[in-house]
Amino acid sequence: MTNRVKGKIALVTGAASRPGIGYSCAERLAKEGATVYLTDINKEGLDEAVKKINSAGGNAIGIIHDVASEGDWDTVFNQIKKDHGRIDILINNAGIAMLGTLDELTPASYHKQIDINMNSVYYGTQRAISLMREIGEGGAIVSMSSIVGLKGFAGCYAYAASKGGVRLMQKTAALETAKDNIRINTVHPGMIDTNIQNDAKRDNAEFYEAVAASVPMGRFGTADEVANLVLFLASDEAVYITGGEFVIDGGMTA
Ligand SMILES: NC(=O)c1ccc[n+]([C@@H]2O[C@H](COP(=O)([O-])OP(=O)(O)OC[C@H]3O[C@@H](n4cnc5c(N)ncnc54)[C@H](O)[C@@H]3O)[C@@H](O)[C@H]2O)c1
Repeated sequence: MTNRVKGKIALVTGAASRPGIGYSCAERLAKEGATVYLTDINKEGLDEAVKKINSAGGNAIGIIHDVASEGDWDTVFNQIKKDHGRIDILINNAGIAMLGTLDELTPASYHKQIDINMNSVYYGTQRAISLMREIGEGGAIVSMSSIVGLKGFAGCYAYAASKGGVRLMQKTAALETAKDNIRINTVHPGMIDTNIQNDAKRDNAEFYEAVAASVPMGRFGTADEVANLVLFLASDEAVYITGGEFVIDGGMTA
């Protein structure tokens, strides 16, 4: 264990999936000395994730949390406030990918996609900023967008809306919080080998295969590789970085 985020209080959403980007972020932050709250809707996965981090000497706490529910966000923040009175790092990671062409999209799946991937970022960011301002020592918020939040991809209408929204919401929040030393950045992964890929493949196999074949580095990325970038942005090493968008895609958008 080293100390890149020693003593910080961190919250990572969607952290139950292994392999998953949220879990890797939580594990990495804990290894570098943060107390990490892992949240997810998957209780079984969450229990296992917390156990794994704690048995490796980390300090992890699990809370059941649907990121589309404002009430659940209040529960999570109330617990963190009660335990520590502060939050230093928020990783808005939880997300789903409902892929398919526009003519196949239903209002229900469109709204579900936006609720989970985008509205959640609003709920979490607003609460984190409020607590960080109250304490007055700044903080770091990293939100998981996607390369699909940077350019159009056929078959990703609602997902693109959610990820493009996250990108500009968080730039706007970064401008509003820069003077408070609250740094807000987005990360834009390409094809990363996690459980979400199985769902995407089931929803739209043809599109999925075409995208996978187009990675210049010739392979998918790993969740740990994304977590390395997130850790850097969350740490004081990134002290002058805010409002930024960070692509990690093996060259796909180059
Ligand atoms: N894997 C990729 O290729 C890739 C690429 C670009 C962006 N991303 C983004 O990275 C993030 C993490 O994805 P991943 O690949 O690790 O996926 P994953 O499916 O492995 O993990 C996502 C986690 O989010 C949780 N989750 C789903 N709905 C939730 C809800 N309503 N409330 C709380 N938790 C919920 C799931 O239970 C799961 O544990 C997502 O926002 C995703 O869109 C992934």
